[in-house]
Amino acid sequence: MNLTANTLKRTCMCAEVSEAHTGKTVTVMGWVNKKRELSNLTFITLRDRTGIVQIVVDASKTDDATAKLAASVRSEFVIAVKGNVAARTPENINPDMKTGRVEIEASEFVVLSEAEVPPFQVADTGVKEDLRLKYRYIDLRRPEIQNALITRHNIARVIREFLNSEGFLDIETPYLTKSTPEGARDYLVPSRINKGSFYALPQSPQLLKQILMISGFDKYYQITRCFRDEDLRADRQPEFTQVDMELSFVDANDVMDVNERLIARVMKEILNRDVKIPFKRMTYTEAMERFGSDKPDLRFGMELVNISNLDAVKRSEFPVFINALADGGSIRGINAAGCANFPRKQIDSLTDTAKLFKAKGLVWIALLEDGGFKSSAAKFFSDDAFKEIAKSFDAKPGDLILICADKDSIVFDALGNLRLEVAQRLNLTDKNDFNFLWVVDFPLLEYDEEEKRYYAKHHPFTAPLDEDLNLFDTNPSKMRAKAYDMVLNGTELGGGSIRIYRRDIQEKMFGVLGFTQEEAYAQFSYLLEAFKYGAPPHGGLAFGLDRICMLLTGRDAIRDVIAFPKVKDASCPLTGAPDAVSDAQLDELGIELEPHKENKND
Ligand code: AMO
Repeated sequence: MNLTANTLKRTCMCAEVSEAHTGKTVTVMGWVNKKRELSNLTFITLRDRTGIVQIVVDASKTDDATAKLAASVRSEFVIAVKGNVAARTPENINPDMKTGRVEIEASEFVVLSEAEVPPFQVADTGVKEDLRLKYRYIDLRRPEIQNALITRHNIARVIREFLNSEGFLDIETPYLTKSTPEGARDYLVPSRINKGSFYALPQSPQLLKQILMISGFDKYYQITRCFRDEDLRADRQPEFTQVDMELSFVDANDVMDVNERLIARVMKEILNRDVKIPFKRMTYTEAMERFGSDKPDLRFGMELVNISNLDAVKRSEFPVFINALADGGSIRGINAAGCANFPRKQIDSLTDTAKLFKAKGLVWIALLEDGGFKSSAAKFFSDDAFKEIAKSFDAKPGDLILICADKDSIVFDALGNLRLEVAQRLNLTDKNDFNFLWVVDFPLLEYDEEEKRYYAKHHPFTAPLDEDLNLFDTNPSKMRAKAYDMVLNGTELGGGSIRIYRRDIQEKMFGVLGFTQEEAYAQFSYLLEAFKYGAPPHGGLAFGLDRICMLLTGRDAIRDVIAFPKVKDASCPLTGAPDAVSDAQLDELGIELEPHKENKND
């Protein structure tokens, strides 16, 4: 087919054509969504980012060439059509289409670009993700994904408008920088000019935004890319976008206040939902005790119950319980209400989940309708003991109690995740129910049993609670941080803290983390140096923009709200990155590959 010269100029977008245009001439351009022929009529639904509109080419009213051209197009051809907008007869109205009351009667028809048969149809939703991402430009033509990216654009716009109106300044920070302490592995970029030296791509702009506070900017924000070389998950990508901010002369309440107002604004403008502020607040300890997670999903109950002190438990000779208590652990469980009839296979798969989170096993007690009990620990407990346990869970016949006995950290992790799994199976997680909360008073430090040393739970510049300062010398593991996470439906949307800005406290912190002064200066010299010259009290927060977009568009993975995401092995199916580079490029950088890891090009 010969492409026709285009003399047309677009006058409106496809979905903008309406009854108001009836009798007028319009020109639309886009992709052929579908074509069907009916005697001498060719019907084409034309698609652009706004939606679709029907074109009709009537061979009896157009010249032969136009009719032939229209009949020859296939899906994904790019065409331009000029024609008269006509109201459809009542029996032809399509109520499922925004433009379903009208059609365009083509008088001029131009093929701008042909298309081979695509590897999959745009409308086909059953296509494997790898293929979708390899041909992402076709995948991105799907209205559903386009809408997700349009919503993302709008969310970012509302965020900018809000922060601008609150007096925040948008200031960029470099991507080629020095390592930032966010706990993941760095992506490194070799320097050609300084051979043997590397830039690190920022895991976040943390230290530089603190420097901006020391520089006097007072309120900073940036919607910026961050890079972390860590395993991918549904809510984790190696490069992702933060809404990053920092404020001077503030306390934790100020930071939480501005951020819940920001999120309430986004919810109103994007979803027209009124969100009640202030958000609920819960301490880290309470979140762990009640939900087994520092990012609890509050859309449903199923709270953890601690039965370590129950008579029935203490009196039992059940080795799993006795050993856990003897090792300083605890015995806790959840009530999966109405799940007593779960088939054995399902209970086994819950046990597998518990084991995935390092629990040794899972004890289950099913409360039968006749008042009896069925349990994996039946031989260790009398019916009376089961009754006492059931009572503490407020369990009724038909319920299933799931119990873990282990170190607290394992019990919380296993039950916290079981709780989510049971909720999924019972459909308790309505995506339209938005349950925000702040988790506060995180532990300042985390103790690594293997390495026998403390790590900062957030980062080394997070300030301890004032009332815990005296614990630096006596019991650092009990210290709590001026840190806060915003959680939505079991996902950490954002997190931040008030920072240490006094040198004596910073030195103590480094001391606890096992850094000598020299080591601390070697790693964070520029920030520590800057602290010497007048640092205001400051604090901030960063949201994961991808996560906000995922939850507000009802998706399960942030990949669905990123135009060109990476897949599990951190590669990009579209571009083929990461890829080998030429020997000349490596030479320039002074890099030699080990023989067994040789350049794929060789
Ligand atoms: P943090 O490391 O908690 O804090 O990150 C802030 C938010 O960024 C999002 N996020 C991610 N999203 C997608 N993929 C990832 N790999 C990923 N990692 C993090 C999360 C998270 O809540 N500098 C501090 C913030 C501060 O203290 O101001 C920081 O980066 O939504």
